[in-house]
Amino acid sequence: MPNNSHITVIQDNYIKNKAYIDLAKHYYDIKLADINSVSYEDITKSVVIIVQVDLNDPNSLNRLKEIMALPERRHIPTFFLLHEFSRREVVQATTLGATDYTVYPCPDRNFTFILENLINKKVEKAWKKLSHVQEEALKVSLKVVEKTFHNASKGLEVSQEEVKDSCNLIVEATAKDGLNDWMDAIRQHHNSTYRHCMMACGYLVSFGMLIGANKADLQMVAVGGMLHDIGKAMIPLKILEKTSELTPEEVKVMENHPVDGKIILSGANWDKAIIDIAAHHHEMLDGSGFPDGLVGDEISDIVRTVSIVNIFCDLTDKRSYGPTMTAEKAIETMLSMENQLDSTLVKAFRPVVLSDDN
Ligand SMILES: [Fe+2]
Ligand SMILES: [Fe+2]
Repeated sequence: MPNNSHITVIQDNYIKNKAYIDLAKHYYDIKLADINSVSYEDITKSVVIIVQVDLNDPNSLNRLKEIMALPERRHIPTFFLLHEFSRREVVQATTLGATDYTVYPCPDRNFTFILENLINKKVEKAWKKLSHVQEEALKVSLKVVEKTFHNASKGLEVSQEEVKDSCNLIVEATAKDGLNDWMDAIRQHHNSTYRHCMMACGYLVSFGMLIGANKADLQMVAVGGMLHDIGKAMIPLKILEKTSELTPEEVKVMENHPVDGKIILSGANWDKAIIDIAAHHHEMLDGSGFPDGLVGDEISDIVRTVSIVNIFCDLTDKRSYGPTMTAEKAIETMLSMENQLDSTLVKAFRPVVLSDDN
């Protein structure tokens, strides 16, 4: 999905509670559009359309009929916020083609539950182009990542078996069908934590395959990629998903995630290498990283590899801090960090993300 994908909110000037817009901003950029001036492009580039107009106003209703009847609109999940729960409004919304509706205002969790379902519907449709093995690996790993982060945040056990099984599926899918379609599908997912973990996991497996790693090592790097940021489960969502610049206090909370990751995984008795990845993937060769300021050989090869892949994912993902970079620019940037990153490894990683003609 292109980076300019958005949620379009179609409104009229009827005064209403618009607090839901802040909730929707967590998922995609928001385009606010007046019902009388909403453009064709606003509609066709939407991941989801939210409609909040007065269905009793004949002008709004007529215009809405035209919009909803557009053939391109029919493929886009459309969420109606109704003024009241009356048979008339419900019938109007469903006749117009609403995919789902709720009366608004409603509790935040009701709104986000419906919105997430609609976004997933759109995304899962795009997964259909994947092979069966790839689709299965995505579905299973999505559930495992969600459950693992949830359990970690609640102090519950993080099941090694489930994580390892889902990583085996990812290794199998990458070996059989390659990485490209899989990465395209992951990049479409709205949950930035899932997207980041799975991108890291996919690139690490692919990198491992390129250098001829055995099956056990491939599974290990896949698990390392999936769990390297498990400590972020302890960061409050309002900091984790903040789209503006973090305050110095918030940066401190954010930078504590390797410490929390080590605590979570040590408590559940994970392999030393996996704990090392979670604890040290933000260390830099010149000692400028965190949390322990490790230097040179104190950082293992596998941790160096994960930190390179981690930075690459951050630089090229749509929700990273700062502008999104192309793969080429990201590799160039990482090569310029020669005191901090292992440039031999960056060069070895290059073919995973760039073909020879780049
Ligand atoms: Fe991290
Ligand atoms: Fe990360």
